[in-house]
Amino acid sequence: MSLKVHHVGYLVKNIDKAAAQFETLGYTIINEKCRDDYRKVDIIFMEKDGYEIELVSPFSDDSVVSGLMSRFKNSPYHICYEADDLEKASAELTANGFTAIDVPTTAPAIDGRRVQFLMGRFAGMIELLEKNDMP
Ligand code: NI
Repeated sequence: MSLKVHHVGYLVKNIDKAAAQFETLGYTIINEKCRDDYRKVDIIFMEKDGYEIELVSPFSDDSVVSGLMSRFKNSPYHICYEADDLEKASAELTANGFTAIDVPTTAPAIDGRRVQFLMGRFAGMIELLEKNDMP
């Protein structure tokens, strides 16, 4: 299994003000605000020094991250890993102590590529992203 760090997911209450504040730190927007209607979150991708962050902000009380938001406010909450083969990586991780917390679903903010979230009892939440076949 080959996993490559893709981005750090960052939970934020006010996505526009958060993006402005990250710009102050030197980050630039690489993907303008995108609404994910399935997860009920707005997403902005930013980059600095080769590191990508994903700002995630719920627009509804029943979004997938609303529960997390009440606990963590503005903070990083997952690391996303790109996998050559999503199903294979997921199977290998679940055979090694991780639990899938959803099924693979397309992510409109990442070119419609499929993602899946898993939880590790000791490592916390991670995201798997299927590798883009396009050059
Ligand atoms: Ni993510």
